[in-house]
Amino acid sequence: MAPRKTSREWNAAEYHRLSAPQFQWGQRVLNQLHLRGDECVLDAGCGTGKLTRLLLENLPRGRVVALDLSRNMVRHAQLNLVPDFDDRSSFVAADLAALPFRNCFDGIFSTASFHWVLDHDGLFRNLYEALRPAGWLHAQCGGGPNLASLRQRVCALSQTAEFLNWLGKFPEPWFFSDAEGAASRLRAAGFEHIETGIEQATFTVPSGQEFQQYLRTFVLHRHLELLPTDALRAAFVQKLADQSARDNPQWALDYWRLNLRAHKSA
Ligand SMILES: C[S@@+](CC[C@H](N)C(=O)[O-])C[C@H]1O[C@@H](n2cnc3c(N)ncnc32)[C@H](O)[C@@H]1O
Repeated sequence: MAPRKTSREWNAAEYHRLSAPQFQWGQRVLNQLHLRGDECVLDAGCGTGKLTRLLLENLPRGRVVALDLSRNMVRHAQLNLVPDFDDRSSFVAADLAALPFRNCFDGIFSTASFHWVLDHDGLFRNLYEALRPAGWLHAQCGGGPNLASLRQRVCALSQTAEFLNWLGKFPEPWFFSDAEGAASRLRAAGFEHIETGIEQATFTVPSGQEFQQYLRTFVLHRHLELLPTDALRAAFVQKLADQSARDNPQWALDYWRLNLRAHKSA
């Protein structure tokens, strides 16, 4: 059977509730920005807008465009932020693979999003075009051996008789670049002063139940969309939770982050 096309949507309410690790990783990236306070910045893959809020607080005379492919996420971010930042924030539902901006931004900030875009050559070209001269890109996403243990289990489970029909030929919906590959793609897109690096960020989910909810919301929603019944979706995450329950420590997710910094020439 040909693989069914997956949607672009996320469960925004669950993401907002469970995204403490992503928020902490993002805060560290945001704390490294050197902002004047009057810049116009794109938050590329803004999710529910938790970090967009911090960005706006750090830009008291500036503006932020919050962009995401998921309409649920954009709506959630808008509801969160418009009451406090109506005059300095805008919201766009758009694909980073077809970015509708040229020469617009002083900076582009992005966290936990680029690995959902498979073509990083095209992505970096689009980001470069969207920046003004001397504009900066400061981003973090999954990279290197991100979630390698979990992905190996997902792959093996997808090949078992129970799931083969729906997931057997489903290609991974992520691209986890290494640091060298990312640097050379940024260079090819035209960027200068490039710094890239990988860091480990293992995260342990507090309970088996939360581990399953976490997988459903953050990692495997594209896989689960392809399964035809709730029973099969429940069985898929239950089996992965059962495997993790036998690990020491239990419920650990082997996250690795790719950091990206680069500039457009003046
Ligand atoms: C894990 S969330 C990160 C959200 C937020 N930046 C954070 O750190 O909490 C990933 C986000 O990337 C968005 N995304 C995935 N592919 C995208 C694409 N091609 N264009 C724009 N956004 C995309 C998803 O819709 C999702 O909101």
